[in-house]
Amino acid sequence: MSTTVAAVRERSVSCSLDNYLVLPDHTMDARIAAARRELGARAVVLGHHYQRDEVIRFADFRGDSYKLAQAAGRTNAAYIVFCGVHFMAESADILAHMGQQVILPDLNAGCSMADMAEIGQVESCWEQLMALDLTDDHGRGITPLTYMNSTAAIKSFCGERGGLVCTSSNAAAAFKWAFARNQKILFLPDQHLGRNTAFAMGIPLEECVVWDPFMVQGGVTVEKLRSARVILWKGHCSVHQRFLPEHVDKVRTRFPGIQVIVHPECRWEVCQKADGIGSTERLIKMIADAPEGSKFAVGTEIHLVNRMGKDFAKEGKTVITLDESGCLCTTMFRISPQHLCWALENLTEDNVVNRIQVPEEVKYWSRVALDRMLEIG
Ligand code: 13P
Ligand code: SF4
Repeated sequence: MSTTVAAVRERSVSCSLDNYLVLPDHTMDARIAAARRELGARAVVLGHHYQRDEVIRFADFRGDSYKLAQAAGRTNAAYIVFCGVHFMAESADILAHMGQQVILPDLNAGCSMADMAEIGQVESCWEQLMALDLTDDHGRGITPLTYMNSTAAIKSFCGERGGLVCTSSNAAAAFKWAFARNQKILFLPDQHLGRNTAFAMGIPLEECVVWDPFMVQGGVTVEKLRSARVILWKGHCSVHQRFLPEHVDKVRTRFPGIQVIVHPECRWEVCQKADGIGSTERLIKMIADAPEGSKFAVGTEIHLVNRMGKDFAKEGKTVITLDESGCLCTTMFRISPQHLCWALENLTEDNVVNRIQVPEEVKYWSRVALDRMLEIG
C-alpha cells in the first residue's frame, strides 16, 4: 500500500461501516479514487444507470442489466464490486469464473419487484399448472421465463424446466425463443414487461392472464388458463408503476413536440402512448441519436433522468422526467459513496465485505438460464 493512501485512511479500514456513514459525501471521493488505484486490475466496479452520480463516476463499466451481466461474465478481476441491486450481484456471481468474488456495497440494496415472487409461490403455481395438465415438470407445455429482476432460485427454477432469463433489452427475443418450444409462457415477476412484450408481438391482451400468488389457482379460471398464451405473474416495479397515461397527456400539452420515451416496466397504457420504449441503455441511446434541439420526457428512475438532463444539455437537447413528483428507486439509492469506500478500502486489505454468494445447488440451473439469455443476445 502506498504511504499516501495509508495516510489518507489510516483511521478507517479497520473501522466499522458506521464510522463511514457519518462522513460527508465529498470526503469520500479522494479515498475511493485512492483505493480504486491501489486495487488496480484486481477489482472491477460495475455501476447500473440508476446509481447516484457520486457513485457511478467510479464505475469501470456502466450499463443496463444485460450489459452489466455481460461485463461480469467477461472480467478477469478477482473482485467484482457491484453498484446496483441484489439480483444483479447474484447474477454476476452466477456468471463469474472460479475464484472471483462479488461484492454488493450495501446488502440492503434489494428490489421490491424481485421480492414479489418467492420460490415457494412459484413452485406452488407450477404444481397447480401441472395438475391442470398444462405442463409437466420438464416444461413440456409451458416455458417458464423470468425477468433478470428475480432471485437466483427462480432463475434456477426456469433453467431446470427448459426456460430462461431475459432483461428489458432482450425480452422480445426471449419470448420468441420460448414460443419456439411451447405454446405458452409463464412470465415472472413483472406483469408490465410481460404484457408490453407480448402485445408488441401481436398477442392480444385477452390472451394474457395475471396469476395472483395469493389467490387459489392464481385467481384465474381453468378456461382462461387453457386459452392464455402468456401467464403473467402479479408483480410490478413500484417506481415505474407510478407513471400514468395522464402524465403523458400533460407533458405533451405543456411541451408541444416533446417525445415521450419510457422503460417497459411502465404500465401498458403508458407504453401505448409513448413514442419509444426501451431498457435504460436503449433510452440513453435514443436521446444520443436524436438531433440537436430534441426534447424528451422520460419515464424511468430519476437519477438517470437527471443525469441525462445534464449530459445532453451540452448537446442542445432537453431531457425532463415524465412525472414531476420524481420516481426514485430507494434501493438503488442505498449504495452510497460511503458504502463504496468502505467496501473498496476493505478490499485493499484483502478483507472481503458483503460478499454475494449464490449456493452451489442453485448455481447450475441458474447459469443455464442466464447462458441461454446471453446466447440469444
Ligand atoms: P435495465 O435492464 O433496463 O437497466 O432495467 C433494470 C431495472 O431494474 C429497471 O428498473
Ligand atoms: Fe427494482 Fe424497480 Fe428499482 Fe428497478 S427501479 S431495481 S425494478 S424497484
